[in-house]
Amino acid sequence: MKKIIIAIDGHSSSGKSTMAKDLAKQIGYTYIDSGAMYRALTLYSLQNGIIYGEKINEEKLRLSLPDIKITFQLNAQSRQPETYLNGRNVEKEIRGMEVANWVSAIAAIPYVRQALVAMQQELGKHKGIVMDGRDIATVVFPDAELKIFVTASPEVRARRRLEELIAKGENASYEEVLANVKKRDYMDSTRTEGPLRQADDALILDNSFMTVPEQKAWLITQYNRVVNQ
Ligand code: C5P
Repeated sequence: MKKIIIAIDGHSSSGKSTMAKDLAKQIGYTYIDSGAMYRALTLYSLQNGIIYGEKINEEKLRLSLPDIKITFQLNAQSRQPETYLNGRNVEKEIRGMEVANWVSAIAAIPYVRQALVAMQQELGKHKGIVMDGRDIATVVFPDAELKIFVTASPEVRARRRLEELIAKGENASYEEVLANVKKRDYMDSTRTEGPLRQADDALILDNSFMTVPEQKAWLITQYNRVVNQ
């Protein structure tokens, strides 16, 4: 069967990662979480004095880029890929609120995007991948065979995100999470480089009122349609 690239873009906490991971597992593709790469870079910046007070030292970040290695390794137990920063597993750390509060500012820096887009293109050069993010169908893989744009209302997404944070034992209020979701939507869709937008040839999925199994079924139908045509 022909191998394709599946690009899944969408808003924060729209459930795109869950969908993308499930699909990759089901069809034997590699799943790549491009957001985790921006998050890992943000964690590095927080831990190395690049983010200080309310500021980002962009020059220091640019000079540090060659020293930052972001990789993925499969967790043998969960069979899910986990994010490594310079050889250290940071999967849990990159999901916290501190990283969430800074990641969109780091991701708006043009040279950061250029570096990570190049890495993402390299990861997809043999096809057979499902990658999710904001600019995957528009910038990273404009020729992807299947493009999906996932969305849901900010309130639905904030509830989902809050449940995830609580399940991980993090402290956050609904208002705080909703404000973060809206702020990231705004920053992600108004930046000049690689803004979040639906590719003209992407299929839209609004999953506000869909269950996970319903989304899964919809996605596999789309995949089968493309590989069999
Ligand atoms: O997907 P996730 O919410 O983990 O992504 C974290 C942040 O990384 C997003 O809010 C966005 O600012 C940035 N991002 C991006 N481009 C991507 C993936 C994520 O700018 N392809």
